[in-house]
Amino acid sequence: MSAKIQSVRGMRDILPQSVAAWHRVEQTLREVGWAYGYQEIRTPIVEKAELFAHSIGDQTDIVEKEMYAFADRGGEILALRPEATASTVRAGMQHGLLHNQRQRFWYMGPMFRRERPQQGRYRQFHQFGAEAFGWADADMDAEVIRLSHRIWARLGLRGLRLQLNTLGSPRIKAAYRQDLHDYLARQHAHLDADSRRRLARNPLRILDSKDARTREIVAAAPNILDFLDRPAQQHFAELHELLRDAGIKFDINAKLVRGLDYYTGPVFEWVTTELGAQNAVCAGGRYDGLVALRGGAPTPAVGFALGLERLVELIQPPGTGDARMLAEPRRADIYVAYAKPDARLGAARIGEQLRDANYTVINHCGGRKLTAQMKRADASGARLAVIAGLGADAHKVQVKWLREARAQQEISVAELTDWCARNLQ
Ligand code: HAM
Repeated sequence: MSAKIQSVRGMRDILPQSVAAWHRVEQTLREVGWAYGYQEIRTPIVEKAELFAHSIGDQTDIVEKEMYAFADRGGEILALRPEATASTVRAGMQHGLLHNQRQRFWYMGPMFRRERPQQGRYRQFHQFGAEAFGWADADMDAEVIRLSHRIWARLGLRGLRLQLNTLGSPRIKAAYRQDLHDYLARQHAHLDADSRRRLARNPLRILDSKDARTREIVAAAPNILDFLDRPAQQHFAELHELLRDAGIKFDINAKLVRGLDYYTGPVFEWVTTELGAQNAVCAGGRYDGLVALRGGAPTPAVGFALGLERLVELIQPPGTGDARMLAEPRRADIYVAYAKPDARLGAARIGEQLRDANYTVINHCGGRKLTAQMKRADASGARLAVIAGLGADAHKVQVKWLREARAQQEISVAELTDWCARNLQ
């Protein structure tokens, strides 16, 4: 006998009791996206793998170790998207939306990374992201940060801190990378194995090594903020001013470089101390080079993505009784039962009639005696039961209150919807 098939490691079911919290978060995200004039864009979950290799960087962890890439039957190498910035750029270019135009987009959906699963880190997870194309000034960096800040406010989340850094420009980033590489190469013997491996290909990633000895070396490493030229300094200073004006506190963290290659200017992360090791709830930054890298006209761009699992966990910590935002699961308004088999069709029609009037209705299915049906009605959480076929007249039903001490009544089917409108507020 084969073992029972379980879900894939790191890929979770979201069960009905959690869905209400997800809906609340998703609805808030949509509303805030729209509140800033961003338009929703939906791109496929599967893309050509080279899209991500070229955009995120083929030497990043995401592409090198974590991407679900596979050969299609035709031999083409495809991938489950690990993020959606590259997809948004692809879609925007493919449909001519970025050519001589400015665009504000938001998206929401599942992403896939084959990371080591732990609380807050999954192999299928969900992101909401916002991306703005065509604005080079710091006011747009500030706008996307304000958008994310408004999300925390709407969800009642406190305690998130904004970490801010800048990579200056592609030229500054390259110069810094070289300098950092040379510094770290001199310390080669003292670096941990992982960092040594990264040194030649991706020295910036060593800045967020967790190894104690490497961290000491990193503490004395060159600082990117010393590499900024005048325009980069001005852009960063302006962003600070705009954030201060918006009342958004931030910490400058010159070691924040982000794990994706496309960033070219200010970068940021919203972090919390409440999610254990997975402290980043939201991250993003400016990527002015990506559209051109993919063959388009040079187009400034800035955006972020946040992890919905992490937001939901902040709102409803797993295993705790004191959910801070306990959303009620959806309950039906009305349960429709039938007292004899030949009333079953009438009961189904009554269910549809009530749904036409926008009630949430559960029709009893599967026969059984009326007492058993009424137990189900009670367990469903509905306020009212409608019972067909109890009396001799097929055009009449009984209405029975399930949670209130109110008298059971006989009502004609024709009047039922109006009666509900008057009595079921
Ligand atoms: P990222 O930092 O890779 O950036 O991911 C953004 C957020 O997605 C993280 O801060 C985290 O909340 C969530 N996240 C990432 N990986 C996982 C995981 N395995 N499990 C649960 N949540 C996760 C990006 O993806 C960029 N595309 C952001 C961006 C948009 N930059 C510019 N525009």
